[in-house]
Amino acid sequence: MDANLSKQYFIAPSILSADFAELGNQVSAAETAGADWIHVDVMDGHFVPNLTFGPMIVEACRRVTQLPLDVHLMVQNPERIIEAFAKAGAVRLTVHIEASQHIHRTLQYIRQLGCTAGIALNPGTPALHVEPVLHMVDLVLAMTVNPGYGGQAFLPEVLPKITQLRRMLDDQNPDAVIQVDGGITAETAPLAAKAGANILVAGSSVFGKPDRKKAINEIREAIEH
Ligand code: DX5
Ligand code: ZN
Repeated sequence: MDANLSKQYFIAPSILSADFAELGNQVSAAETAGADWIHVDVMDGHFVPNLTFGPMIVEACRRVTQLPLDVHLMVQNPERIIEAFAKAGAVRLTVHIEASQHIHRTLQYIRQLGCTAGIALNPGTPALHVEPVLHMVDLVLAMTVNPGYGGQAFLPEVLPKITQLRRMLDDQNPDAVIQVDGGITAETAPLAAKAGANILVAGSSVFGKPDRKKAINEIREAIEH
């Protein structure tokens, strides 16, 4: 198992819900508050309707935190830009199965660049669509909202798919982890964890709260008890 993943549960605050006028301070505050990873939501205005960050923001985050930068590419044809994100300091890169025509090549390229490789699926995409690449990823990201915006409601119908993905990984690649992203709160995190997820992305339920440490602790305690 990846030595960095020896803990059972990891919380990855998404800077999508941070105050961008204070980005450096917000990332540092999340680290001080007990975040395990910093999740960076990259949107291209094409794969998803919204537009967010490029590699320069990853490079800026790199300068203010020691935490792993977990970059979620909601980008069509991500192979064009993954090298720029790796050079900027991303250590974990996740691409969508729906967005890459040559997904094997894209995932191999991520690992060649020295990053860990993740494959993401939208809520409407069946688990079987990622089966051919499960042996070559470090992480599977099961979206629990339709990607594009923070602050949406968790979709509980994704829970059986998380369990199905965990079973498939146990057969093929037991060291790989499952991440959930979208609508994660102290109420929904235990449902996702029980289904088999162990990396929890939380945007508005961390950065939307005045006390980030309390917010992270509430999610962690809800999962662990
Ligand atoms: C959604 C993004 C998420 C988002 C989560 O497209 O991938 O990472 O920031 O935000 P919350 O936790 O507010 O649903
Ligand atoms: Zn995300």
